[in-house]
Amino acid sequence: MRIDVKGLTKSFGSRHLFSNLNCSFKPGQVNVILGESGSGKTTLLNILALFEQPDAGKVLYDGREVTNLKKSELRKLIRSTVGYIYQDIRLFENLSVYENLFLAMKFTELERSQRRKTADELLEKAGLKDYGNKTAGTLSGGEKQRVAIARALAGGKKLLFADEPTGALDEENAMRITELLNDVAQKNGCTIIMVTHSLTVAGRFSSRFRMAGGQLMEDALTKNTLVKNTLAKNGVMKDGVEIEG
Ligand SMILES: Nc1ncnc2c1ncn2[C@@H]1O[C@H](COP(=O)(O)OP(=O)(O)O)[C@@H](O)[C@H]1O
Ligand SMILES: [Mg+2]
Repeated sequence: MRIDVKGLTKSFGSRHLFSNLNCSFKPGQVNVILGESGSGKTTLLNILALFEQPDAGKVLYDGREVTNLKKSELRKLIRSTVGYIYQDIRLFENLSVYENLFLAMKFTELERSQRRKTADELLEKAGLKDYGNKTAGTLSGGEKQRVAIARALAGGKKLLFADEPTGALDEENAMRITELLNDVAQKNGCTIIMVTHSLTVAGRFSSRFRMAGGQLMEDALTKNTLVKNTLAKNGVMKDGVEIEG
């Protein structure tokens, strides 16, 4: 599903986050949003996911305006279409990992017998093989974050919003999750919009935007960001800036 944004404007009191944003997010790929803390990335995701209203402007899903829907229509659309990976994770801590995933599958067309298989596949791809029966609340922060990602993917929605989904992960798991999101976007043709602070993660994708000064611009990172990040890994450079000495 394609998302178009037209003239989107949002403030909280005297705090102007963005004004007159225009952009498009395409299906079948991961679209990355970079930007400093407090620049309005989470607020933008919430507006795109229809959890919050803009002050002006509109959001279109496949050309249909969705910012003016009645409450009941809105709820139905969100339930059928929107998956969300929250920055603060939000698992049901008293439930098992399986139960968390099965709840997300409630509105899918998957047969009961397929649900367990889908859950096992997702957990394995998230590096959580054999975690299904563990209680979510007993896991580490990074494990919980990966369960939250598997859960969002289990919902099989056309739109997936991910708010810093690799924030609590080490580099190996961050790349594992990055590949998983990329695979799902390509195979299922869903639209993923991901906020990240990691240039290594962002450099993996070609559709990149940067939130700055109340505007969302195509990101001007150089094409060889990946090369730079490889150098960074080897201690030569950090975030594309050469380290002295
Ligand atoms: N519901 C709200 N009420 C008032 N201010 C808010 C609300 N949500 C976010 N803000 C403010 O808007 C700014 C941008 O927040 P946010 O969208 O979370 O930024 P980011 O995700 O880029 O860090 C912050 O200064 C934050 O305090
Ligand atoms: Mg945020």
